[in-house]
Amino acid sequence: MRNKDMRRQRAIVMNPYDERGACIDEISSASLSAGGDITIAASRRRSSSSSSSSSSFTSMIRRHRRRIARLVIALALIFVFHRDRAYKSIERGDGSSTRDGGMMMSTSYTTSERRRADMGNIIYGSKGKGEDTAMFVTSAIHSGFRHIATGGFHVEYDEAGVGVGWKESGIPRHELYLQTLFVSTSVIGYGTRNCNVDASFACPPPSNATIEDQVRSSIESSLSNLQSSYIDAVLVHNFRARLQPYDETIRAWRVLEDYVDRDIVRHLGIVSVHDAEYLTKLYDETRIKPSIIQNRFHSNRGYDINLRPLFRQWGMANQLFWILTGSAGGRVRNNDVVKGIAKKMGGVSPQVLLYSLVLELGGTPLIGSQNISHMREDVDALTRHRIKWEQADLVTMAGQIHKNLIQ
Ligand SMILES: NC(=O)c1ccc[n+]([C@@H]2O[C@H](COP(=O)([O-])OP(=O)(O)OC[C@H]3O[C@@H](n4cnc5c(N)ncnc54)[C@H](OP(=O)(O)O)[C@@H]3O)[C@@H](O)[C@H]2O)c1
Repeated sequence: MRNKDMRRQRAIVMNPYDERGACIDEISSASLSAGGDITIAASRRRSSSSSSSSSSFTSMIRRHRRRIARLVIALALIFVFHRDRAYKSIERGDGSSTRDGGMMMSTSYTTSERRRADMGNIIYGSKGKGEDTAMFVTSAIHSGFRHIATGGFHVEYDEAGVGVGWKESGIPRHELYLQTLFVSTSVIGYGTRNCNVDASFACPPPSNATIEDQVRSSIESSLSNLQSSYIDAVLVHNFRARLQPYDETIRAWRVLEDYVDRDIVRHLGIVSVHDAEYLTKLYDETRIKPSIIQNRFHSNRGYDINLRPLFRQWGMANQLFWILTGSAGGRVRNNDVVKGIAKKMGGVSPQVLLYSLVLELGGTPLIGSQNISHMREDVDALTRHRIKWEQADLVTMAGQIHKNLIQ
């Protein structure tokens, strides 16, 4: 009985929470110094016949209680300071330039949450799903996708459907990565059927709205559509590589940086930029660096072979669309060499093999399948049991697409 009491007493002292769930820090050194040592007093009552070693332990704790409280607070402050500094450094692009460093993460993410948000290396693209968006998003999440791409103020996305879809999935918000677009009124594809904000923002924005007000209206609408207090990433949209005037983009970016400062948006990126000069200027002139570049994977832009070293250098995640629906898909579809490699790898489809090749090149495939078997096949081969390549096969398959695809 005595030993049990001692163990309990030690446990109470070492546990930073009292039995009502209040933290010792919250009780504060004031109540401790006022003789209100709740845990010790309570345990003393429970242990009327305490041993001498128990009481000396208790009196030692009582004697040093202020020092202990100060030490705990100091350690907590050091931890928070270093964590925030590390994440901010990654966010601003002066930290790690690894693939993870490019995607990650906001100041308020814990390490395990950062890993979860990046989990999978593949993205479910919700474009063109119309009224079925919610259903496909739920299916994609149940198949194992965790990163969902949509677009605010874009005619081809039902952003509100993504909000409904992830809620229906039952997966908690912090395990998902929700990404949307900012589309300016002058971009082809601009549309406001998803406009959804409270009365304090004009939605849709009036035709003479400044680019700054367009961004605010779009982000507030996206938060509402996505049923979330934050958005993991916002990408500035360009339609089919037709670049928006740089001045407009940088003005929009300044407003987005403000949202990152407020932890409402966590990463910024840009779509369809194949122009190194434009991208470099944007990278150099922004405070919150672009951490995502979303481009086509296509011969008519040279598969970004010349730009990929820049993406790597800046630690940008390189999201890719038109993988199956563009030139590369056509080149591998009925290709005997690819069929041979697929057979050797246990009969995976050429489509999955192509996604896998893109992953090996450092890209992140955007996948918009409307077929649950395909979704599951992709998640399995690209994440859960990621395909392992022999270098020779990788080089051979890449060569079917472009002779310099592997640099
Ligand atoms: N930024 C831009 O301008 C832009 C442009 C286009 C797309 N995107 C993004 O990229 C996403 C993907 O679009 P995408 O145009 O590249 O094509 P996609 O929507 O992913 O279409 C893939 C096609 O390949 C078929 N397929 C066959 N086997 C498959 C497999 N194992 N896994 C997946 N699909 C398979 C699909 O058919 P099933 O449906 O039967 O599987 C579908 O017809 C979009 O949702 C959007 O988010 C962005």
